[in-house]
Amino acid sequence: MEKLVYVDRRNTNCNKWDGQTGMFGEEGLHAMWVADMDFKAASCVIDALKEYVESGVYGYYKVPEEYYQSFINWEREHHNLVIKKEWIRFSPGVVAGFHWLVQMLTEPGEAVIVNTPVYYPFLNAVKNNNRRLICSDLICDGGHYQINYEDFEKQIDEEHVKLFILCSPHNPVGRVWKKEELAKIFEICRKHQVYIISDEIHQDLIFGNHQHTPSLCFEEYRDLMVMLAAPSKTFNLAGGQNSIVIIADEELREKWDVYTTGNRVLGGSAFGYIAAQAAYEGGAEWLEQVKKQIYENFEYLKEELAKKLPKAVVTPLEGTYLCWVDLGAYIPAEKVKEVVQKKCRLAVDFGDWFGGKRFGTHIRINLATSLENVEITVNVLAKYLKTV
Ligand SMILES: Cc1ncc(COP(=O)(O)O)c(C=O)c1O
Repeated sequence: MEKLVYVDRRNTNCNKWDGQTGMFGEEGLHAMWVADMDFKAASCVIDALKEYVESGVYGYYKVPEEYYQSFINWEREHHNLVIKKEWIRFSPGVVAGFHWLVQMLTEPGEAVIVNTPVYYPFLNAVKNNNRRLICSDLICDGGHYQINYEDFEKQIDEEHVKLFILCSPHNPVGRVWKKEELAKIFEICRKHQVYIISDEIHQDLIFGNHQHTPSLCFEEYRDLMVMLAAPSKTFNLAGGQNSIVIIADEELREKWDVYTTGNRVLGGSAFGYIAAQAAYEGGAEWLEQVKKQIYENFEYLKEELAKKLPKAVVTPLEGTYLCWVDLGAYIPAEKVKEVVQKKCRLAVDFGDWFGGKRFGTHIRINLATSLENVEITVNVLAKYLKTV
């Protein structure tokens, strides 16, 4: 059985522990933010990279057939999705992928809709490209989130929305959208001819009885959609900058090819491909260990907060390793940073980053770390929030 190895990553040039100044204005905070893991990668990945490193030759890389096959097999076995090799394209990260797609599928000034609170680079992709950002807030019912279909359609109609960026599963609220929910929202997109970018980077981090439904399972909407996947969250390979763009529709694929050929970004680094292939071929057992640890961390956090800060609302973790917690019963939005960062000395993702001040009483905690790091987090929160 593959053993999960926690690594103290301080002083390794990692963003999470060593690169806090950009977002927090200081270093040295207890790092529970950026979505990568404090675990060593699967041994199959390390072995494959070692073999390549030891070859000593790092010239231009021809992507092997086995790379594509490893991902095709993974999707079929884990998500019941049948992908053809010719649908697969490359982007150096999912964020780059959806930035390009915003440019490809819309014109400046056109409207793009998202379900807030949402992974903040979605908002940046729209704003950085001078498109109009339309936010349809999810409905929160005691910490459980749902799509507001009425508002979603109303805004699409009124604002002449051209593109929807879907987060599935949803970061930060941990929802694994049910098939019926996706069907409803895709039907609205069909009715108004809205393109769909479906960011499914968290598709393999699913807990309990929940089941991820890949967007491309819906054959009837394939002409509207591009699916984005990656081994980076699943196998902790974000530094490899290797992600996968899946386009089933021929016309959309042609658009993508014209766009990427024009920008001459057709492939990635050998290291990224090699790591991804090894992970998809042999990383399943490692992933099970990781998921076990994440869920144990979640249950600990939920139970301890229920004892120590019973009014904190912990959103159920259906998927992702990111836990969304509302501290509003203890601190007003304008005091959250002062207490959580300055007093507790925690680096967490702050709620307002995900779409505005109305989410400001929330924090997002990364659970892909040791139980000890989660214990530290809960204890400092309990200590300083009680005294506010
Ligand atoms: C929904 C979502 N998309 C994309 C990313 C990052 O993708 P990449 O590092 O491949 O650009 C993240 C990372 O947290 C994420 O949560």
